[in-house]
Amino acid sequence: MKRKFAKRADLVKSSETREILKVTERPEVISFAGGLLAPELFPVKELKEACEAVLEEDGPASLQYSTTEGYIPLRTAIMKRMNAIGIQANLQQILITSGSQQAIDLTGRLLLDEGDTVICESPTYLAAVNAFKVYNANFVEVEMDEDGMMMEALEKRLQENPQAKFIYTIPDFQNPTGRTLKLE
Ligand SMILES: Cc1ncc(COP(=O)(O)O)c(C=O)c1O
Repeated sequence: MKRKFAKRADLVKSSETREILKVTERPEVISFAGGLLAPELFPVKELKEACEAVLEEDGPASLQYSTTEGYIPLRTAIMKRMNAIGIQANLQQILITSGSQQAIDLTGRLLLDEGDTVICESPTYLAAVNAFKVYNANFVEVEMDEDGMMMEALEKRLQENPQAKFIYTIPDFQNPTGRTLKLE
């Protein structure tokens, strides 16, 4: 049968993250590999109350499509929160996504052409690498120490790769090392 998939589909490999998470479905396994959240910390009661309140107050309108950028009252609340912690964001700079994984994918779509270089920590978050690979990116790794990405190594990589598109870094509680970049 004639192949119908786009060439891009060849770049989408089975996700190691999903393979790791499969193991966690087995009740006898306590997996530290998948980074699952402690279920007892989920605010089930509060979420239930919030859902009930929204459906009560806004009815069907709360289930309707919204604008691409997201629900304006939510974007406004986020903007105020950012402003309160000293980040001068305006409403046009705030976009609601389905988790940060979607934001990572959008970043790749916006910035990466085929063969572009992404500088990242070594090791780094697997699902970000997979998201950028779809855009045929190259990766240049920067060594880490206890304080995160090593600045001397980063400077060297930047000099070697002046055309690099961006640095993908997880400055706080890095995945998978858990390290936090020093403030300096
Ligand atoms: C560094 C990092 N970025 C993004 C994500 C994905 O987050 P979300 O569930 O918000 O899409 C994870 C999840 O483990 C992560 O560790």
